Amino acid sequence: MRLLPCRGYNACLSRGTSIDCKLGGMIRVTMFADRTKWNLAANRLSEAFARHRAAVKTLVDLTDSNSTECGFVYDQRAILEALQNPAALEYKPEPQGLVSARKAVAEYYAERGVNVQVGDIFLTTSTSEAYSYAFRLLCNPGDEILIPAPSYPLFDFLADIQDVKVVRYPLVYDHGWQIDFHVLERAITPRTRAILVVHPNNPTGHFTKRAEVEKLSAICAERALALVVDEVFLDFCLGAERPASFAGNAEALTFTLSGISKICGLPQMKVAWLAVSGPQKSKSEAKARLEVIADTFLSMNAPVQLALPEFLSQGRPFQKQLMERVRRNLAELDRRLGLQKACTRLELEGGWYAVLRVPATLSDEDLALALLNEKSVYVHPGSFYDFPREGFLIVSLISREAEFSPGLASLLQFFL
Ligand SMILES: Cc1ncc(COP(=O)(O)O)c(C=O)c1O
Repeated sequence: MRLLPCRGYNACLSRGTSIDCKLGGMIRVTMFADRTKWNLAANRLSEAFARHRAAVKTLVDLTDSNSTECGFVYDQRAILEALQNPAALEYKPEPQGLVSARKAVAEYYAERGVNVQVGDIFLTTSTSEAYSYAFRLLCNPGDEILIPAPSYPLFDFLADIQDVKVVRYPLVYDHGWQIDFHVLERAITPRTRAILVVHPNNPTGHFTKRAEVEKLSAICAERALALVVDEVFLDFCLGAERPASFAGNAEALTFTLSGISKICGLPQMKVAWLAVSGPQKSKSEAKARLEVIADTFLSMNAPVQLALPEFLSQGRPFQKQLMERVRRNLAELDRRLGLQKACTRLELEGGWYAVLRVPATLSDEDLALALLNEKSVYVHPGSFYDFPREGFLIVSLISREAEFSPGLASLLQFFL
């Protein structure tokens, strides 16, 4: 059951129950590692969603963020031809990934004004895998990573699997989002290993500002922490000028993560990367250790690596279509919000989502359930993304306009 944007994992799970077994009638042991002690029962919202689907009820899914199912036009021929490179018949084990593929990634950054060396790039099958490399490199079991709240819900699972503890630092909203540095600095302990940033953040759609980048880098440099920066939505900027990538950050050891899942709308092709930057000494040591991790898995397959230059060249037309859709849906959202007074939206600077502020008459999850049951509209509750209080719902701006507009109308009608 998919509950979160574009993922195949069971993010509808909560954490906490274990499956125990009895041995010899006396000793109670669990067969499985504590790190997988998730509550495997589906939550109420995912159950209701499944019931709706099973009953073939008409449902407007305003969480849809699988770009391959949203009616975007892909150059199918070019994509499929790129996968047929005869060079894929040879096995060339390269821990960091094929040079030709990494050159294409370096070119991606060069087009964004950042000089990233081919030798500083590590290819992975997903951003999730890139996170796992970074966490494995930086953390002993029980070490801590600071993560933003609200943000991408997968971090808890990624951290659990790597035996890492996540500690949240708040993003505060006041006509735009910013990092609460006071709380962030207080959250740093001797076990903290890294600060994680999502740039722009999912689902708030705000970019990390220049002054924040400088402050984060200074904190990390001073306390020997790393910066782990997720830039999968970097190219989806609503403003005239796209904020800079962290990939060139030399002030602190920085791991910049991205991939074609979002920037080219090709999540099924499984190509992502991690670019290492920072002071020379820590950067060289990080790369040497990362190379061993990457060499142990050699997880990249030949056909997609050889196809990566073509895939990346498909990024621009995809992003153009997607941003046109986001702009149209956002305009429609604002038009409909202007016709009522109960709901508003938070400011956003980019990304694929909008955050609605709604009357907190029920918990966010109950509101999402009621919307599903009474209006057949599916949205994500803010609690999925760790909003600090009730009254927030998240909608995807990449849904087809023909669904988005009536879905939104039903949603807003609910609050009248
Ligand atoms: C912030 C963020 N990072 C990473 C991903 C997923 O990237 P990948 O498919 O490369 O693991 C997502 C998907 O929704 C995301 O929202």
